[in-house]
Amino acid sequence: MMQIYNRPRRNRKSEFVRLMIQENRVSVNDLIAPLFFIEGKDTKIEISSMPGQFRYSTDLLVKKVKDLEALGIKCVSLFPAVDESLKTKCAKESFNPDGLNQIAIKSVKDACPDMMIMTDVALDPYSSDGHDGLVGAHGEVLNDETLEILSKMAIAQAQAGTDIVGPSDMMDGRIKAIRDSLDSEGFKNTSIMAYTAKYASSFYGPFRDALDSAPKAGDKKTYQMDYSNSNEALRELYLDEDEGADIVMVKPGISYLDIISKLKENSNLPVAAYNVSGEYSMVKAAAEKGWLNEKQIMIEMLTSFKRAGADIILTYFAEEMAKHLRS
Ligand code: PBG
Repeated sequence: MMQIYNRPRRNRKSEFVRLMIQENRVSVNDLIAPLFFIEGKDTKIEISSMPGQFRYSTDLLVKKVKDLEALGIKCVSLFPAVDESLKTKCAKESFNPDGLNQIAIKSVKDACPDMMIMTDVALDPYSSDGHDGLVGAHGEVLNDETLEILSKMAIAQAQAGTDIVGPSDMMDGRIKAIRDSLDSEGFKNTSIMAYTAKYASSFYGPFRDALDSAPKAGDKKTYQMDYSNSNEALRELYLDEDEGADIVMVKPGISYLDIISKLKENSNLPVAAYNVSGEYSMVKAAAEKGWLNEKQIMIEMLTSFKRAGADIILTYFAEEMAKHLRS
């Protein structure tokens, strides 16, 4: 008889021992719930490519946030679906203090003062070009010229009561410019979650359906990162740290676990993972066909972000996961 001294299976022999030695767990405190909203009252419209996700009128958005708060969720990320008629080349609706986004921030803050609100600072939901920055005469997406609008946007959002701004355009010099602008207006406590390693990804398709925000021409490859690269993510990390980011993010999530680990190993800042729309929709579609067990896949996927090193997870599964964690 062969003598086997090391038997890893001893640590898997029962549910109790497995739970005792478990290295990573998702907590409700880690979750950020992205939510879409529209103008109007008492309306919710399901996003066809994201079953279970809706565009809420602001009154129903507030109700949804209250439900999420009751489940223990600590932060929501708000995305406005802006009427086409308000979209312009210079995206001026983005910093309108009475615009949909700012009204929604105020309404949610009034109703749920403890809930943290995160908001995106990029032009795409307000731009008639569907790009994250201003578009020049030859179709090029402009870097420096866009900064003034982003600064105005961040200030308008901070005035409305946002807690965390998320510069999501993946262009250069954003964190410093926004930090300077927020500080100059007295918003020293408004945090910045940098979209540090945001890749030019086809996983964003359903999100662009939700906001009708797909680029009218070209793609986002001159500003979002090439998914073939990983060292470039470190370069972006060091810049964002220097410029004053509070939290760094990797996006998308499931195909980018290596990037999450890399950022975690190379930074002392909290790392967030964005489990994006396409990742949600793939699971939903397969589950609808009966090909995958949705709940088990959700838990496995979200746990893998923690194992990779994520401290925070933005996910459209936030509500379902919070319910699961309660049960
Ligand atoms: C816009 C933005 C996008 C997402 C978050 N902010 C789309 C894009 O860059 O085209 C994607 C989120 C998702 O797919 O869930 N700057």
